[in-house]
Order: sequence, then structure tokens, then C-alpha cells
Amino acid sequence: MGREFVDIFDGWAHSYDESVSGKDPEYRDVFEGYEVILREVTNRVSGTVIEFGTGTGNLTAQLIKEGISVIGIEPNTKMRELTLKRFPSINVLDGDLLQFNIENENIDAIVSTYVFHHLTDEEKGEALKKYAQLLSKQGKIVFADTVFITEEAKQAQIEKERNRGFNNVADDLEREYYTTIPILTNLFEEAGFQVSFQKMNDYVWLLDATKK
Ligand SMILES: C[S@@+](CC[C@H](N)C(=O)[O-])C[C@H]1O[C@@H](n2cnc3c(N)ncnc32)[C@H](O)[C@@H]1O
Repeated sequence: MGREFVDIFDGWAHSYDESVSGKDPEYRDVFEGYEVILREVTNRVSGTVIEFGTGTGNLTAQLIKEGISVIGIEPNTKMRELTLKRFPSINVLDGDLLQFNIENENIDAIVSTYVFHHLTDEEKGEALKKYAQLLSKQGKIVFADTVFITEEAKQAQIEKERNRGFNNVADDLEREYYTTIPILTNLFEEAGFQVSFQKMNDYVWLLDATKK
């Protein structure tokens, strides 16, 4: 489990950067302020970080520019190749949010953008407990992803997208495991983190967690 959406990115890899730049009207609101979101994640971490779901390497680029040492984990072969082609000198490993092999590294932070929703809520809890074991006290997790304030807000958003004919986004919201702030707060706290949330656009929130 946790890899059930990986193949979707075979078909999206070549046009993904057009989507994030707003060229796909259906995904324009999801990627609104994309560069600001990546920068905000980057500004909150330092040292050596694990980046999950590197995709085409856009967050990776920002992290490297700031002198951060990146270990990428990307389960999709095409995406992994795109990141590696862009940054041949870094490690981009085949793995996912739950299964990955990092040896003898001191990890200061764990980051990702538009990735954590690929796990069910139960798996998210499992992953956070695993990350807590990797990080020292004050170690950080900074994720940006689509999150809703309540389940009702999520259903209203799905209805809004269907009403304007954006069925791809609506299907995506129904298919993958987009969760709510109260659920995430519980999962982070149960794993030993203090977490805060910052709204970045109509979909994306920044999750900033520190290990207690
Ligand atoms: C929407 S893209 C985001 C890419 C990049 N982080 C960005 O912000 O542009 C999601 C990425 O997560 C990867 N992915 C899918 N399932 C995953 C999993 N279970 N663990 C880690 N990465 C996953 C996909 O292959 C894809 O590269």
C-alpha cells in the first residue's frame, strides 16, 4: 500500500511542469502560488533533508539553491529520472513515504509538496511514527498539500468542481486520500510532534511540525 497512485505519474510526467505553471485550467487553483509554496517549505528547513516525491525536481531545485543537502525518495521511474537528469550529483532513491532505505544519515528535516495525500489516514499515522524515529528532538517535518478544514468543506469543493465541469479534479479529490486539519493534528500529536497549519491557496496548506 501507499504506491497505488504512482502509475498515474507515468502519463503526467512530461506535462507536469505545464500544470504547475497554471496552463491546465482544471489544476490552476491547486497550483496557485506554486513557487511561493515551494519557497515557504524551503525557508523552514536546513541541514540534511529527505524529500519525498521529488517529481520533476522543482522543490529539490529550491532546496539545493539554499545550500540544503537533499536525499530524494521517488517511486515513479519517469519522475525519478527527471529529477536525476536535472541534479545528477544528488541521491534520488526508489522508495516511497512508507518504505525507504536511508543509512547512517543524520536527518534534520523531512519535506514534501503535493505528496502526503497518497497515504490513507492510517498510513499517514504509521509514516509519522517512522519519521519521529529518524529525527532528533526539534527535528522538522514540513509538508505542503491539499487539506480541508472539515469533511463538509471537502464535499463542497468536490461539488463546486463538478458544477464547473472540472471532473478530473473532482475525481482526483474522491480517489486519493485528502484529509482534514483535525485528523492531521491528531496524527502528528500522536507521533510526538507539535504542528501548525498555514493556508497557502484554496487547496494547499503548509504543515509545519516539530518533534517534541
Ligand atoms: C503531484 S506530484 C508532486 C511533485 C513535486 N513534489 C512538486 O511539488 O511538484 C506527486 C509526486 O509524488 C510521487 N508519489 C506518488 N505516490 C507516492 C508515495 N507513496 N510516496 C512518495 N511519493 C509518491 C509521484 O510519483 C509524484 O512524483
